[in-house]
Formats: sequence, C-alpha cells, structure tokens
Amino acid sequence: MKNNKLSPWTEPAPDLIRGGVPHTSEATDEVTGEGVDQSPLQRDAFVCFRMLLLAVLLASAPATSRAQQPMTDAQHARMNRFLDSLLARMTVEEKLGQLTQYTGQWAATGPSVPQGGEDEIRKGRVGSFLNLFGADVTRETQRLAVEESRLGIPLLFGHDVIHGFRTIFPIPLAGAATWNPEAIEHAARIAAVEATAHGIHWTFAPMVDLARDPRWGRILEGAGEDPYLNAVMAAAQVRGFQGDDLRAAHTLLACAKHFAAYGGAEGGRDYNVVDISERTLREIYLPPFKAAVDAGAETVMAAFNEIAGVPMHAHEALIDGVLRGEWGFDGMVVSDYTGVLELMQHGVAANRADAGRLSLRAGVDMDMVSGIYINDLLEPARAGTVPMAEIDDAARRVLRAKYKLGLFDDPYRYSDPARQEAMTLTAEHRAFAREVARQSLVLLKNENSTLPLAKNTGTLAVIGPLADAARTSLGGWAAAGRGEDAVTVLAGIREAVAPGTTVVYAKGSEVTGDDRSGFAEAVQHAREADVAVLVLGEHEEMSSEANSRSSIDLPAVQHALAQAVYATGTPVVAVLLNGRPLALPWLDENVPAILEAWFPGVEAGHAVADVLFGDANPSGKLPVSFPRTVGQVPTYYNHKNTGRPPDPNSKWTSKYIDVPWTPLYPFGHGLSYSKFTYANLEISPEAAGVEDDITVRVVVRNEGDRAGDEVVQLYIRDEVGSVTRPVKELRGFERITLQPGASKTVTFTLTPDDLAMYDLAMQHVVEPGFFTVFVGASSQDVLEARFEVTAR
Ligand code: NOJ
Repeated sequence: MKNNKLSPWTEPAPDLIRGGVPHTSEATDEVTGEGVDQSPLQRDAFVCFRMLLLAVLLASAPATSRAQQPMTDAQHARMNRFLDSLLARMTVEEKLGQLTQYTGQWAATGPSVPQGGEDEIRKGRVGSFLNLFGADVTRETQRLAVEESRLGIPLLFGHDVIHGFRTIFPIPLAGAATWNPEAIEHAARIAAVEATAHGIHWTFAPMVDLARDPRWGRILEGAGEDPYLNAVMAAAQVRGFQGDDLRAAHTLLACAKHFAAYGGAEGGRDYNVVDISERTLREIYLPPFKAAVDAGAETVMAAFNEIAGVPMHAHEALIDGVLRGEWGFDGMVVSDYTGVLELMQHGVAANRADAGRLSLRAGVDMDMVSGIYINDLLEPARAGTVPMAEIDDAARRVLRAKYKLGLFDDPYRYSDPARQEAMTLTAEHRAFAREVARQSLVLLKNENSTLPLAKNTGTLAVIGPLADAARTSLGGWAAAGRGEDAVTVLAGIREAVAPGTTVVYAKGSEVTGDDRSGFAEAVQHAREADVAVLVLGEHEEMSSEANSRSSIDLPAVQHALAQAVYATGTPVVAVLLNGRPLALPWLDENVPAILEAWFPGVEAGHAVADVLFGDANPSGKLPVSFPRTVGQVPTYYNHKNTGRPPDPNSKWTSKYIDVPWTPLYPFGHGLSYSKFTYANLEISPEAAGVEDDITVRVVVRNEGDRAGDEVVQLYIRDEVGSVTRPVKELRGFERITLQPGASKTVTFTLTPDDLAMYDLAMQHVVEPGFFTVFVGASSQDVLEARFEVTAR
C-alpha cells in the first residue's frame, strides 16, 4: 500500500531519512500479510509477527522513557535552511493557509473532507484538519495537498486521542489514580501506535488542566487537584505520545492543553471566567504545562477562558511571554476550536480581523475552525496592518512541526491500511488496558473485609443502570472507541464467577429520571441473592466538555435504588462509574464496600471483576479529594492554613456549622486487601543549606496475607515563609510491590527545586527555615518528621 511517489521535499531533507536514529517505519511497511485466505498457520505466524512488531514499536519508548533526541546543530541548520527557502517561495495566502485548520465531517462511511475542502487544499488555503482519520481518507486527502497544490506542502491531521484511540484506557483522572507514570506513558504509546496507523499526526492531549472543582465536567480529562501529580502525568503522556523519535511512523505530536488555568472556571461552569492571582497561576496551574514543555511537547493549545480580564487567545504575556519567553517553548500554539472568533464574544475584539490580529500577536499560530486567519487577515496582511513577521513566525512553527514529523520526506507514512488493520485493538493492547484499569480502581471503603468476594458466592445479584452499560464504560472522550468493544461490569462478573454461582441482573432504573418501575425486580433479585453488587454513577455525558453539574450527588433515582436494595438486608457492594468526585455520604455510611471504578475503558468489566474477586489487589489512590457535599467545593488537600485553622472545639475557626470541613475521602486515599504499615521515617541531613538535597527514608511493610502494591506518598510543608504556604504539598511518590510479610525501605530525594516557592517578589527561591515532611498512605494518613534549611 506504500505510495511510491516521492514527496517534492525528499531531496532537501535526506538526513531525516538516514539520520542514524532508528526507524521502525520500515518494519511496519512489511505488515501486509493479513489476507483473507490465510491458513491457520499463516495466521499464527502473522499473530507472532504482530506481537513482535508491537514489541519493537513499544520498545522504542521503554518504561522510563528517553526524551526526544535533540537535533544536532547540523540538522537544525539544515531544517532552518529548508524552512527559509520554503517560506521564501510562499505567498501570504499560502502562509495563512498553513495557519488554518478545518474540521472533517462525519459521513456515512466515516470521517471525510467537508464540501469545498478539497478546493481549499488545492489552493493551499488549509494546513491541517482535525477529526479526519482513517488510513484511506487521510492518504487521499494528503495526496491532494502534496500532488495538487502549488507547493505540495503536506497536511497535518489532528484528533483528540485522549485516553486511547480504539483501545480505550481509563479516563485520565483514573489514569492519575494509578500513580503509575510508566503505565500511563505506555498507554499513551499504545494510543499513538493505533492513532498514527489511522493517519493521525497530532493528538490534542495531554489535557494538563488541574481542577479543584468537581462540578467542572472536564475534571475527568486531567490528573486531579495536585500540581505535582499533574506534572508527572503530563510529562509521562508527552513521552508516550511523542516517543523518542518524532520521525518514526508510530509517534505523533503531543499538545499540552488548555493553556492556561481552564480548570479554574468560576462555579465549575465550563468556559467560565477565571480570576486568580499570579501566585496561584504559577504555583498551581502552570507546573503541569512547564513539565509538558520540558518533556518536549511540540504543541500547546490555548484555553477558552480569560484570566483576570484577558482571554487566553489574546494573552500575549502568558503565551509569548511566559510560554515562549521564560520557558523557551519553540513549538506551535493552536487555538481551541473557535477560540479566535470567541474574542469577539469576550468583548476584546470588535470584528473578525481584530480577533485574528490579537490572537496572532499573542502567539496563537494555528486557527482551529474559525477560518479567521485565512479569510480575514489576508487583506490586512497585504495592507501591512498585520505584521508579516508575525505571520512568518507562525508559519515557520507550523512547517517546523511538519518537518519534525518527517512529512516532507514521506507525507504518507502515517496512513497505512495494513498497519491500521494489524495494530488496532490487539490482544496485547487490550491486556495492557486491563492492567491499567485494575491499577486505577480505588477501594474507598471495605468494612469487615467485605471484599474480595468469593467466586462461589451462591447467587450474586448485579444491579444498576451502569452494570451493563458498554458505551459508558469508555467515558466521554473515546476517540475511535466503540461501545461494542467494551466488556461491561456484568459481563466481567459473569466470566469471573465459579461454575456453580448464579448471576442475576436487574437494571433497576435509568441513570437519571424518575422511573422506578424497575425497582421491584431489582429488590426481588437482591432478596434472593447472597450478595448484591450495585453498579451506579454517571453516564458518559454527565462529565467531560460542556457537562458541568451543579450537584455532585448520585442522581436521585439511583440513590433511591441503592436504598431499596440495601433495605433487603442482603450484603451490598457498590461499584461506581463516574468522571468526577461524587458526594457519597449515604453510601459511605451504609454500604460496607465501595469501589470507585471511574470510566475504566474497554476492559472495564474484566478489571472490576479482577478486583471484586481478588484476582487483583486494589492499589489506586485518589488524585482528587471527594467532598461530602457540593457545598464544600472547592475542597483540596493543599489548602492554606488560614489565620484560624479549623478546630472542632472552637467556634470562631474556619469551618462549616452543618458539615465537617474535611473531605469524605482525602487526596491520596485508597485501600488495599493487604495491610501496609509505615515505620522508621528518617531524614538526612536534619539541617541543610538552601542548595542541598535532603534524603527521606521510610520502611513500608506488608502485614497482610496477600501480595499488593502500595503508593508511598511524600508531602512537605514549609512551616514559615515570606508568603503563606499550603499545609501540605506532594513532592514525591513511589508505587511498590510487596509480598506478604515483606518490607522495603523507600528513599526519596528532595531537591532545592522541590522546596522552592514564589516569594514576595515572585522569585522562585528556597527560604531558610523549618520544613515538615509527611510520608504515608494518603494525604491524611502519614508519619511526620522535620528538617531545617539554613541560609548558606
Ligand atoms: C474543544 C476542546 O476544548 C478541546 O479540548 C479539543 O481538543 C477541541 N475541541 C478539538 O476537538
């Protein structure tokens, strides 16, 4: 299927083809053996080959991955010469075309180019498409650009590959609950392998927006409430998507989004304004972006929100100033959908041209969907009222991304039907999705060791609107995921139980609404069962974009269903599928075991059953606090102390009169079937200079009777600063595996950067004084020790 016509750009960039960096694209080109008439032997051989191929592909991004290999000076110079000569040949319209991204449309056969799009491609008036994927359609669309436009500049195909492409992994919030960046990196690697085979060059991920407000539907797309965990997960995903060689056919451009502070939306209402201090921005919201940039993210997406009066699509100080100036980011910035156009709604641009001018000046290189750069900046550019230098800079950054991907040496390498067929939703990908899902499940409560359940339980009643909800199991951002690929919780349980066990199922109710007509059957089943497993939560469109909620309770009908089932007296276990922290006071008070399963992906049912029946020992930990009620929001562990810290014995302190001020389940919380104990917390040295590292050691022992993983967490508190400091800040964690009776000394190193803070002058410094160190199983369950930093 290889298109043998050489790109017009093969000649100027030979180093990209033979540059000494190992390519696996050659190997993938060989995957053509999957014909209709294969013998079983051939098929076996093909499966073996496919596994080998996967191993080769994945080996290019090992667990603790190498970052992108930097270009040599010579390669850099060559690239710049190439871009200079290309830009010199381009008309203004062609340059603005490179800054323009249109969306594909959904036709009966799948994604396709919208009407009129083909002509725009031929005229060089479009540089990129989103939502256009599939080896054939991208190949044909690319052919139009390469063969039928004047300069033959290849197109860039982007898509939201957020937590898997066809093999859907747990939603990112659940991914963060694994506290396993290597696994998340590997999941992103698999997503890249599948997506690139479908012609995708660029994913709009990772979403690195920290969120403290569970009402915000997009909290599911990020890594929760903590800047450190968000930063670690952001970098892991960037490495996974981009691998160590962007020119390889199975790596794609990552995009850290949404720059910046989108998760700070007032009231948790999507797209709403954000009004935060520079300190909060730098301490809380920016670190994950910085980590993504440091990990080599090639692109960044501007956010829909304003910050203190300045919409991000016009925020020169943050995009041009901080991102490019301070951090040295030299990649491409893309608008978020119609973000350029929306500058008019924000009220900072009077017309389309003004909106385009502001965005371009701020540093937004590519205009997604609005069509303003190509349609409304052409005349101003010709008239000289939009500086040509700004257009050139932006066009250079777009072309550079294409060059780095190797599209000028082979524009078709990503659109490979054979690889698409061979590498999508493979058994190996599914197996990995199951493992990640297992690690993402958080056991919130397990009174009297209710879990694990025995596989020979007699009769098991599986009840609830989400027990057999295949599409919901995938979550809201499921790229090319299909409901029919998903194993539901019910299917997983049926597969797992012993032959003599009877599994009965009743839906009971819908996810929302008032219809209680299914209650009677559910109650009947529960009454006759030995155990009832309630599968409750949100459907996939109750969280993600434009799905903010004012309540974070279980929908009333499900709450009533849970109460009715509980009233039978049959032991009840609750499994929750949802994309945000829910307020669960009634369940917590009454149901002995609660398993937070999030949206676990294609292997949902297998992973949940693995944990319910003890084939997997739960090990996930909350990346976000679970409030008791929406009225406590925002509730986050790294809050400030206030001048009147909460004290249950003193009225005039910072708390509520009707509900405890603490969350129901704190950040970092998650139980195991093993029992881990912490001892011998040691710090050395106990007094150190501002430039010294501090070593922290703790001994963790598994006192349970089964092997398990524990996520050991390290927090610090800067006791007295020139500005107030959070009561705790995560600064390290490690997932360890311990056999029964085994113990391990876990060692952390705190560097000056870990101790630094923004002082009164907004300088990032370590201030001398005492620090408390907390190490333990959650942000609340910790051992403590102190050390002093002296001025030296
Ligand atoms: C809007 C969303 O905010 C963004 O995250 C996404 O990448 C784009 N749409 C493209 O689908």
